[in-house]
Amino acid sequence: MASYRIQLAVAIISSLLLLFPSTQGWGEDGHAIVCRIAQARLSSTAAAAVKKLLPEDAGNDLSSKCSWADHVRFIYTWSSALHFADTPEDACNFNNQRDCVDQANGRCVVAAIANYTNQLLDYGSVTKSKYNLTQALYFLSHFMGDIHQPLHCGFTTDRGGNDITVHWYKQKQNLHHIWDDSIIETEVERFYDSNMDDFVDAIQQNITKVWADQIEEWENCSSKDIPCPTIYASESVDDACKWAYKDAEEGSTLEDDYFLSRYPIVNLRLAQGGVRLAATLNRILDSQELQKSM
Ligand SMILES: *[C@@H]1O[C@H](CO)[C@@H](O)[C@H](O)[C@H]1NC(C)=O
Ligand SMILES: *[C@@H]1O[C@H](CO)[C@@H](O)[C@H](O)[C@H]1NC(C)=O
Ligand SMILES: *[C@@H]1O[C@H](CO)[C@@H](O)[C@H](O)[C@H]1NC(C)=O
Ligand SMILES: *[C@@H]1O[C@H](CO)[C@@H](O)[C@H](O)[C@H]1NC(C)=O
Ligand SMILES: [Zn+2]
Repeated sequence: MASYRIQLAVAIISSLLLLFPSTQGWGEDGHAIVCRIAQARLSSTAAAAVKKLLPEDAGNDLSSKCSWADHVRFIYTWSSALHFADTPEDACNFNNQRDCVDQANGRCVVAAIANYTNQLLDYGSVTKSKYNLTQALYFLSHFMGDIHQPLHCGFTTDRGGNDITVHWYKQKQNLHHIWDDSIIETEVERFYDSNMDDFVDAIQQNITKVWADQIEEWENCSSKDIPCPTIYASESVDDACKWAYKDAEEGSTLEDDYFLSRYPIVNLRLAQGGVRLAATLNRILDSQELQKSM
């Protein structure tokens, strides 16, 4: 009886989640883009490990599982604090001790990336891991996307822009959602004839051409770090102040002026998220890569 009730509750919550998609994290598209960019950059050893960790139904497509963490956030309530790291008092810099807290402390997207990196390091070890490494892969892939969304390192006072209501062209919208979804949607509709594959191709082309000489720096962490999430969070809060919050006061209307100056930032953050997720998975799952970086 009790377990039936739990199953029913899970079924109801899951269907509500489909009706009211989460407003935390890039939308499904943003997360899928980060994971597609990443999976294409894996070393053959890391690619084989990811394939093994993914379930059959994913068809070896990591992007199909990159929003899993959003789908479980109300069932695994402990995980909902792990999607962001907001700063208090409208501070435009990230301070891990001050900002990586919830009621407990040490729980935010920065600590979560470190946590799931450490769990995944159990992959391939002789003793069986006590963690579910498939879930660790899903969480890590998702949070690496989230941390690159500037308003995931926004201000606590407006909940990363969730409490700022503006107009996106003619539509009433909150600022957080504009950065999760609307900018990407408008861009793909206007410049790529609504073709997501063409958009991903365009970002990948820029990674190999326009941004080619920056890739090493994006991937780089100090020698003892596998990923370096405090750096990614610092970049995000900087972008939140310079681009996301700027000229987006409560009640304002955001149109071409805002869109045309912000979409390049979104493209850059999606590219960096993908490149860094790949670098991280390569270091974790390809032990020779790990040795090289140590
Ligand atoms: C680390 O992951 C486990 C689940 O495997 C979770 O219970 C714990 O809260 C996480 N800790 C942090 C700091 O994210
Ligand atoms: C690990 O997590 C995945 C995704 O939630 C689940 O499908 C799988 O059954 C879990 N594996 C174990 C051994 O619990
Ligand atoms: C690619 O780079 C060009 C030149 O900087 C830029 O105009 C274009 O918007 C970029 N496209 C993407 C998808 O990043
Ligand atoms: C990588 O980071 C380290 C430490 O932060 C720094 O000393 C080094 O110059 C960086 N290398 C590159 C190529 O950016
Ligand atoms: Zn998220």
